[in-house]
Amino acid sequence: MKRSSIIYLSTIGLLLGVIAVMAYVFLIAGKTTVTAEDPRRAIELEPPERALVLSEMRGFLIAVHKITDAAVRNDANAIAAAAKPMGMAAAGGVSPALMTKLPLEFKQLGHSVHRDFDRIALDAEAMGDTRHALTQLGETLGKCVACHAAYQLIAPDTTQLMGIKAGGS
Ligand code: HEC
Repeated sequence: MKRSSIIYLSTIGLLLGVIAVMAYVFLIAGKTTVTAEDPRRAIELEPPERALVLSEMRGFLIAVHKITDAAVRNDANAIAAAAKPMGMAAAGGVSPALMTKLPLEFKQLGHSVHRDFDRIALDAEAMGDTRHALTQLGETLGKCVACHAAYQLIAPDTTQLMGIKAGGS
């Protein structure tokens, strides 16, 4: 093989390697650690990023409250109105920096919950069936529980005090 082709091929190989590493870092790994005190994986976030995620969480809880309240009153329109703001439209506002810190599984679960709220809103409007909405909400709550069992959010400083760095996952 010619020397130039060897250089050419190894450059391509190197670039593919770099792309693979970047894809792993940006799309899959996120930035998590484990601590001795808590079995949940800890995602390290800057205070404003943590505040953003937690405020989204409180939005989820508000929607859950309004939906159950509306279901008791058998008001499908109110269910749709409560669910819609927490649909995929609410998933924006996450900076690229924050995206890289969240593990893929976390983002997938989060998006799936947002999609669920869109589905609850659409179905409530189309069918007017509040019992169906409650069944859907029950399934969604299972995802809230699953994610809460797996993850916590911490500030980078806390990690240095408490934890052993566990690398990517
Ligand atoms: C993709 C993961 C994920 C999903 C899905 C999820 N949460 Fe959370 N939630 C978290 C994490 C992580 C925290 C912070 C926990 C900690 O640091 O101890 C949190 C915190 C919260 C808090 C506390 C907010 C605060 O101000 O401290 C509430 C309330 C909450 N979640 C409600 C919900 C509800 C309701 C759902 C489902 C409709 C939901 N979450 C779905 C990951 C998730």
